[in-house]
Amino acid sequence: MERFAGQVAVVTGAGSGIGRELARGCAAEGAQVHLVDVNESVREVADELGGVAHVCDVSDPGAVRAVFGGLESVDAAFLNAGVNGVPSMLQDGGALDELPFEAWRRVLTVNLDGLFCCLQESARIMKRQQRGSIVVTASTAGLRPEPRVSYPYVASKHAVVGLVKQASLELAGYGVRVNAIAPGPVVTNIGGTAPRPEAAVAAWENSIPARRWGQPSEVTDLALLLADARSAWMTGGVHLVDGGASALTQVLSSELPGARR
Ligand SMILES: NC(=O)c1ccc[n+]([C@@H]2O[C@H](COP(=O)([O-])OP(=O)(O)OC[C@H]3O[C@@H](n4cnc5c(N)ncnc54)[C@H](O)[C@@H]3O)[C@@H](O)[C@H]2O)c1
Repeated sequence: MERFAGQVAVVTGAGSGIGRELARGCAAEGAQVHLVDVNESVREVADELGGVAHVCDVSDPGAVRAVFGGLESVDAAFLNAGVNGVPSMLQDGGALDELPFEAWRRVLTVNLDGLFCCLQESARIMKRQQRGSIVVTASTAGLRPEPRVSYPYVASKHAVVGLVKQASLELAGYGVRVNAIAPGPVVTNIGGTAPRPEAAVAAWENSIPARRWGQPSEVTDLALLLADARSAWMTGGVHLVDGGASALTQVLSSELPGARR
């Protein structure tokens, strides 16, 4: 029996990485999938899955309204679109006194404003239908500081966690659940399509008790569970899937910038 037979799922950021895998998972379980992405390549993924592509910038409220406004019902909304691409405090240009305001805003605009727009539209539909599950892709960088990740990424994901918990309070009484997954380092395009420097890959690996990066499919099973009836009593949660990374103290003071005292 397919888990999502007859259901409608929306996946944002579905053109690549975790979102593409989420869309695959939904389609494999029988859902009609609406794939949202700012990148035209989402059309290919939608064709492959027999889903519907929507080329849309999640941070454009009008465009998001147009996508959700065309849907009669939504059973599961996977609000996953996100960006980084900004240097961390350990990289050139990423320190507090160097980071351009424009870079800060670019990440906040997609990761936070974009989530808000999609959350609002999902809530409008799900409150009306008195059911639904919203699953947001947060990050371990939303649960604690991470000097190897940019300021706006860490700040946006902390805000995402707050938004998920706050929304879960309002929506629970309408039969709508809101949860987040918090992945650790996963092999996707979020850091760009160029191969990552070997030293950086190894340093990250060394901070993961499982001793390797995750694959998108290792993250999406958890998200799919949060959308199906077996998790009916789960809401307002932020669920780690990180190879144990959060259980380990990751960064030594000797690795931080600045003179040693
Ligand atoms: N890869 C990781 O290590 C990791 C870890 C924790 C959390 N995450 C989160 O997972 C989510 C998915 O990222 P990923 O790792 O699969 O990266 P990815 O770059 O492979 O996929 C992100 C997708 O989002 C789309 N996107 C970007 N801006 C958009 C916009 N304005 N409107 C619509 N779509 C937009 C991109 O085109 C891309 O297809 C993000 O929220 C990210 O923060 C990733």
